[in-house]
Amino acid sequence: MLHKFTPGAIWPDTSGVHINAHGGGLLYHDKTYYWFGEHKIEGRAGNKAMVGVHCYASLDLYNWEDMGIALPVSDDPDSDITRGCVLERPKVITNAATGRFVMWFHLELKGQGYTAARSGVAVSDSVTGPYTFVGSFRPNAGVWPDNVSPDERHVPDPAVVQGEFSGGPRDVVDRLNILGRDFAGGQMARDMTLFVDDDGQAYHLYASEENSTLQISLLTEDYLAPAGTYVRAFPKRHMEAPAICKRQGRYYFIGSDCTGWAPNAARSAVADSVWGPWTELGNPCVGEDSEITFGGQSTYILPVAGKDDAYIAMFDIWRPENAVDGRYLWLPMRFNDGRFELHSVPEWDLSTFG
Ligand code: GAL
Repeated sequence: MLHKFTPGAIWPDTSGVHINAHGGGLLYHDKTYYWFGEHKIEGRAGNKAMVGVHCYASLDLYNWEDMGIALPVSDDPDSDITRGCVLERPKVITNAATGRFVMWFHLELKGQGYTAARSGVAVSDSVTGPYTFVGSFRPNAGVWPDNVSPDERHVPDPAVVQGEFSGGPRDVVDRLNILGRDFAGGQMARDMTLFVDDDGQAYHLYASEENSTLQISLLTEDYLAPAGTYVRAFPKRHMEAPAICKRQGRYYFIGSDCTGWAPNAARSAVADSVWGPWTELGNPCVGEDSEITFGGQSTYILPVAGKDDAYIAMFDIWRPENAVDGRYLWLPMRFNDGRFELHSVPEWDLSTFG
């Protein structure tokens, strides 16, 4: 039995195998925590989805039982989630009205690099799955965000836009109206998370517009699609790896800069509404290696059940050369004076929350 967290170390499941649930998120259901994440295989090949979304269950957050693959990749070459696609950052939420479990993830179609930038949705009547793939799309096609001015609501001449931008130099996003370019076909959606508010409204937060701007989008009541209301947040800040929580009526955000698998300085922000406006609070990490987030990149914030004011920030330490060896960095969030700090510690346990 494990009785503590050891950030960055091998984390054996109850069978002694290093947990394989990267870019993950947690769901608390029926007094049990469920951890969903990307199953990775050895080597660089592990950066593609060769198996699917892995699920683990725990009663105490330290000891995790392998519940198997919740959403397997498909053997059908025509499926959007065929083996060899890129399927990242899966998150699962429960819909109180339908009683169903809904999974969203970032999907890149096989053989197309990171150009598809789609959202995938899967659903299950059982928390551990198997989940049924519903479909994939670019969200909010044909809809303008609520917070753009009328003069930003224009579709550029496609001939000008095509080929000029490939996700490269950042100054290009200043010259091109990427939001408008993608108006008809739907907005790009890469790194993402889901958030369910106290009123049951669910939101999809995703890196959009060639990763330059985050978008925050309301989901339909069944959580299976965008409801058609969204905003742009952190425009041109190249914010990815979004994670969010609600504490004492305010919303707190952790994200990162865009440097691929290499770690960079985390960002944090606060808002009085999910829709914003968001106020950036800087890098919440303190101490040695804080400028590279202790080697990690954010993926989720967990409010600890049954504990007052207890939030765990979850990060991945990516190992792109041997993807399966990626590590997990879970740290307690220390709130103080309207912001929070993260300190790297070799080990800790839930008693830190008192
Ligand atoms: C990161 C992103 C990861 C993955 C990676 C691929 O920036 O957060 O989820 O997409 O890029 O290089």
